[in-house]
Amino acid sequence: MGDVLTTRVVGNVGIVEIDSPPVNALSTDVRSAVIEGLRIHNADDAVAAIVLLCAGRTFFAGADIAEFDNLPIRQPDFDALMAAAESSAKPVVAAIHGTALGGGLELALSCNYRVAVSSAKLGLPEVNLGILPGAGGTQRLPRLVGAGVALDMILTGKPVGAAKAAEMGLIDQVVEDGKLEEAALAFAQDVIAQGAPLPKVRDKAVAGGLDDLEAVKATHKRQFKGFKAPGHIVQAVEAAITLPFDEGLRREKDLFGELLVSRESEAQRHVFFAQRLTAKVPDIGKDVPILPIRKVGVIGAGTMGGGITMNFLQAGIPVTLVEMKQEAIDRGIATIRKNYERTAAKGRMTTDQVEQLMGLITPALSLDALADVDLVVEAVFEEISIKKDIFGKLDAICRDGAILASNTSFLDLNDIASATKRPEWVVGLHFFSPANVMPLLEVVRGAHTSKEVIGTVMKLAGTIKKTPVLAGVCHGFIANRIMEHLIVQSQQMALEGVPLRTIDKVMNDYGFAMGPIAMLDLIGLDVLVHGAEGRTLMGDFVEAGRRGQKTGKGFYDYDADRKATLSDEAAKIITDFAAYAGIKSDPDQSDEAILKRLLYPVVNEGTKCIEEGIALRASDIDVAAILGYNWPVFTGGPMFWGDTIGAKVLLAGLQELEPRYGPAFKPSALLEKLAADGGEIAKL
Ligand code: CAA
Repeated sequence: MGDVLTTRVVGNVGIVEIDSPPVNALSTDVRSAVIEGLRIHNADDAVAAIVLLCAGRTFFAGADIAEFDNLPIRQPDFDALMAAAESSAKPVVAAIHGTALGGGLELALSCNYRVAVSSAKLGLPEVNLGILPGAGGTQRLPRLVGAGVALDMILTGKPVGAAKAAEMGLIDQVVEDGKLEEAALAFAQDVIAQGAPLPKVRDKAVAGGLDDLEAVKATHKRQFKGFKAPGHIVQAVEAAITLPFDEGLRREKDLFGELLVSRESEAQRHVFFAQRLTAKVPDIGKDVPILPIRKVGVIGAGTMGGGITMNFLQAGIPVTLVEMKQEAIDRGIATIRKNYERTAAKGRMTTDQVEQLMGLITPALSLDALADVDLVVEAVFEEISIKKDIFGKLDAICRDGAILASNTSFLDLNDIASATKRPEWVVGLHFFSPANVMPLLEVVRGAHTSKEVIGTVMKLAGTIKKTPVLAGVCHGFIANRIMEHLIVQSQQMALEGVPLRTIDKVMNDYGFAMGPIAMLDLIGLDVLVHGAEGRTLMGDFVEAGRRGQKTGKGFYDYDADRKATLSDEAAKIITDFAAYAGIKSDPDQSDEAILKRLLYPVVNEGTKCIEEGIALRASDIDVAAILGYNWPVFTGGPMFWGDTIGAKVLLAGLQELEPRYGPAFKPSALLEKLAADGGEIAKL
């Protein structure tokens, strides 16, 4: 059992302490250790009650997710673990700190009592992994907190704090942080003194009935689309209401088993680990110094610069915000304030907090104000000459050791860096719009960017609550580069006469919340047309005053509620442009053909990113697409989905499409190799 289990006796209370870093996941060894600890104290006549607790930063964070890849789960399984806690002849008190999640909370529910420190969080987040709580959680939680509340917790996967948990009846006592062991011992002693019969959650009746579930289901309707787990979760909670406990458990187990082997769950587990891998850069070890970022400069107070600024403010980092003109800076600051005030109006921030955040901004009208900042993020117009001019000036103004970052989304970072005498301090920080909301941050490593700079900004990403994905220098980096195919091909199909609604519907059915045509209208056609040469379809739209949703019309017309309807004017712009460009009409495309044309080149481009060393690994590309473009999580991202299709099938599809639709469909050498060797795309 190694060092995982420690047992000790304090007075007449036996303590089972588990120590399995980093998060005490319930691996086979940990399950064995808990069972063994309970057995030892049950066999000891000097022990009258047992406290179960964990060392390190948290109570059990749930099942060891990696074990789900090697089914069946080894013995002792979760049934055995829960039975050991529930059938203990002596009262068991779960003493919780950190996070009691998934199987961890289910274990606590199988104990007789639960106490938690005030900072603890408790939840059943299995839905995020495409599964359901399969260790009795769907049967025990409704018995403790009521069916409706339980369903809500399990469907959302959101943990609750200790105070709320106590209010709900999920835990018996909230105790002071840092005093968990002594408080749990005192609690156990009280239990012994009372000598009451052992309470078991399984013996309780479920409060609430099937009607209570309807309202909760309706609230979370959107969550069901494309995902399999929510429907199964509802069935399991229904079983808690309609079946005796043991039968309910069996039902839960069957439903859990179905989900565990589903491709959706495999995909979501892939994403779980992928998101935690992105920050790991092979040549940047612990020896690389991380520089302190105490003060930041942002150049440009437009939509992007304002959003970027908000990230730093929320992390408590002061920002000097630079614009060329007073009215531009005033407008930018007013927008930030309006955003925060809207948050405050919803009760998610106090007015004091708004003022505190706003107080961290220092407005400035000259780059000279950036002489002492640790990091500058440039977010001005996407024009190479402007950016180079700014970086040349920054080189003269900023102190030695300041990081100079550009938020460029398509331009050559090395060219920008060449305007300075310190290209090793230049890096790309590519935020996604809206920058204060979207969780992705592409960190672009230039030819000369130093390890220190990369290490520092990867860490900084965590501080501002972003997931960093490292990218090399190329047109569009990772997310924009691969997704450009979807945008280009959907326009191309529109020009061939494929109905706009059909194009969007195929992507909606795939799982995107928004189809590509609707997305163009949301981004703004004027934004997209910028930099394009010659006559373009989007240029024609912009010229006709159809700039997208913000003007009430783009590819679609929009009413006051942003509901899209088809437009004759837009249809004419499309047919006129098709005639001008000599594009042949080919409107009758099957859904399958549309899907292939839109998504196969995305996966193919992903393999090219790996081939060229632009992305570190395929799973980083999946994270970039999911967090930057809302690619549906249950597919695992484009690369993981590529394996669902299979490299061979993809290759054959691209080979068929290339002669008709051009070089975007030319298969990469890497994909050809995978198709020949039988390798997996997502493992690249
Ligand atoms: N299984 C395996 N590994 C896990 C894990 C788990 N349940 N939870 C976390 N880890 C690993 C992470 O992969 C990471 O590993 P690396 O350091 O190698 O990257 C490490 O533990 C630390 O994790 P985080 O970086 O996420 O640390 P954090 O402090 O930011 O967050 C946490 C900690 C809140 C516990 C978070 O890790 C988390 O949410 N974990 C998953 C919890 C979960 O989903 N539990 C349900 C499991 S399924 C289940 O229990 C089914 C059932 O019914 C039996």
